[in-house]
Formats: sequence, structure tokens, C-alpha cells
Amino acid sequence: MTEVRHYTDRLFAFRCTRPRSLRFRSGEFVMIGLPGENGRPLLRAYSIASPAWDDELEFYSIKVPDGPLTSRLQHIRPGDAIILRPKPVGTLVHDALLPGRRLWLFATGTGFAPFASLLRDPETWEKYEEVVVTHTCREVAELTYGREIVESLREDPLIGEMVGDRLRYYPTTTREASAKMGRITTLIESGEIFRDLGLPPLDPAVDRAMVCGSLAFNLDIKALLEKAGLREGANSEPREFVVEKAFVGDGV
Ligand SMILES: Cc1cc2nc3c(=O)[nH]c(=O)nc-3n(C[C@H](O)[C@H](O)[C@H](O)COP(=O)(O)OP(=O)(O)OC[C@H]3O[C@@H](n4cnc5c(N)ncnc54)[C@H](O)[C@@H]3O)c2cc1C
Ligand SMILES: NC(=O)c1ccc[n+]([C@@H]2O[C@H](COP(=O)([O-])OP(=O)(O)OC[C@H]3O[C@@H](n4cnc5c(N)ncnc54)[C@H](OP(=O)(O)O)[C@@H]3O)[C@@H](O)[C@H]2O)c1
Repeated sequence: MTEVRHYTDRLFAFRCTRPRSLRFRSGEFVMIGLPGENGRPLLRAYSIASPAWDDELEFYSIKVPDGPLTSRLQHIRPGDAIILRPKPVGTLVHDALLPGRRLWLFATGTGFAPFASLLRDPETWEKYEEVVVTHTCREVAELTYGREIVESLREDPLIGEMVGDRLRYYPTTTREASAKMGRITTLIESGEIFRDLGLPPLDPAVDRAMVCGSLAFNLDIKALLEKAGLREGANSEPREFVVEKAFVGDGV
């Protein structure tokens, strides 16, 4: 562990050294964890939040008060070790999308993590003319990590010039007052997001999308994307959008 930052009593991010052998594509996830009480590793899926070129690995994490892993992981400090299974996988990768002009990244909560990786990857800026990233959380403070990543992009020596004015950031909250309130699904359905950004409605000829949030969120966004004519893709069959769960649980 090289750095730990706490954002709220439910959210923190940490950085650690990257095993030399670990290769991954920006947007993928790995299994990480701590030694379990029975001697076996206690592992959970985590999106790598840092880009594929970074010497270190970054993760953005929830703290579930009685969660088997995060009730302990939230106490890690620089110098501590974590377990990492170096087998990255996932569908939120460029290879799973057909070429397009505009990339939409739709996140709720810690679902921002894979996009923190993709936004910092030059490939994203080579492949797309424009990138729109939406992040919806219950409260304003829960947007901080994502906002800091977005703000850091413009000052990034590698990415800054490529990004220019091609990034649109659209944060919203649902339970605390902020400049833009509402579920992103509602804002899409009403057309408000397109009016706010001055963009035309979703078009399968132009738009590509990646989605990362709870199962309920993913299903609702998927229905909206399909209604607009976009089709779900996969590594083996690239299409117009891809989806990944930010966590398992709480059903639909
Ligand atoms: C593909 C994939 C990628 C993931 N990437 C991340 C990531 O980058 N960051 C991260 O914090 N978690 C991520 N998760 C969730 C993670 O695997 C664990 O569930 C989480 O770390 C909590 O572990 P736990 O053992 O403390 O509690 P668990 O027993 O795993 O979870 C307890 C309950 O907490 C809730 N919960 C779990 N994770 C979250 C979350 N991220 N946001 C909101 N509620 C949650 C659910 O209701 C769940 O039933 C990912 C899950 C999947 C499937
Ligand atoms: N965030 C907290 O302060 C808090 C506190 C205690 C416990 N928890 C628990 O932690 C778990 C996860 O909380 P979370 O806030 O990280 O994730 P979440 O419940 O998935 O909510 C994250 C954001 O996504 C929105 N959202 C949820 N489902 C949606 C859908 N189907 N379509 C569109 N938008 C959707 C939420 O809006 P809505 O607000 O409209 O749902 C919220 O703004 C839950 O089990 C929760 O009970 C959270």
C-alpha cells in the first residue's frame, strides 16, 4: 500500500505497487483481498481505477460496516499488504465496443472506478471525438473522487492536451441538493440531459456506452439504450454498449 484517501465514512481510495507480471486493459477488474480468519484469502472483485500504463494500481472502495472484506480493508494504511489475484477480466473495455464518435460512461456510486481507469487512458481519447461521463450518487460528498479524477485530467501531462474540451462531466445527486438532481435514467427519459449538454438523443450510428452501477441501475439503463437502438456487446462480439455490475447484492 502506498497511499490511502478517505472521502466519506462510506468511501475510500487506495494505491499500491503493481506486480511486474500484471497486465490488464483499462476498465478490467481483478480479485483483491486480505488473509481470512480461516487462513484462506478473503477476496472480492474490484475494478482497477488506474489506467493500464500506470506503475501503481489504484482502487476505489465502499466501506460496508459489516462487510466481510471492507469492514477490515477500510483500516489499511500505507505499508500494509493486500492480496491480488493477477487475472484481470471484464467487459468495460474498448475491445467490446464497435468504433463510434461519442463515448458515454454512465456510473453510480463506486461504479465510477472502471471509468477512472478509462478516462486516464490515452486510447480513450484516440478512439473517440467526445466523451461524456455521468456520475450519480445519493449525496454530494460521494461525487468527490470522480470530480477529482475529471479535474486532474486537464492538468495531466500525458492526457491533458488530448482531452482539451472533448470531455463533458455530468454529476447528479438524488438525496441531497446539488446543481443537478435526479436519477440519470429519469434525465435521459425526459431528454433533460441532452438539452443540458446541447447534444442530440442517443444514436447507434454515433454513440457508444459503458455502464457500471447496481444491478437495478444497469437493467434500467440497458432498457433505455436498447430503446435508442444500441445493442449490448461483449469481448467476443463488440457492439454499441457494455455493462458491468459495480457490486452484487440487494437485487432489483
Ligand atoms: C465486477 C465487480 C467489480 C467490483 N468493483 C468494485 C470496486 O471497484 N469498488 C468497490 O468498492 N466494490 C466493488 N465491487 C464489490 C466488491 O466485490 C465487494 O462486494 C465490496 O468490496 C464489499 O465487500 P464486503 O466483503 O465488505 O461485503 P459483501 O458481502 O461483498 O457485500 C455486502 C453488501 O454490501 C453492498 N455492497 C457491496 N459492494 C458495494 C459497492 N461497491 N457499492 C455499494 N454497495 C455495495 C451490497 O448490498 C452487498 O450485498 C465489485 C463487484 C463486482 C462483481
Ligand atoms: N449512500 C448512502 O448514504 C448509504 C447509507 C447507508 C447504507 N447504504 C447502502 O449501501 C448500498 C449501496 O448504496 P449506494 O448509494 O452506494 O448505491 P445505490 O443504492 O446503487 O445508489 C447510488 C445512486 O444510484 C441511483 N440509483 C439506484 N438505482 C437506480 C436505478 N435503478 N436507476 C437509476 N438510478 C439508480 C441512486 O438513486 P436513488 O437515491 O434515487 O436510489 C443513487 O443516486 C445500498 O444497499 C444502501 O442501502 C447507502
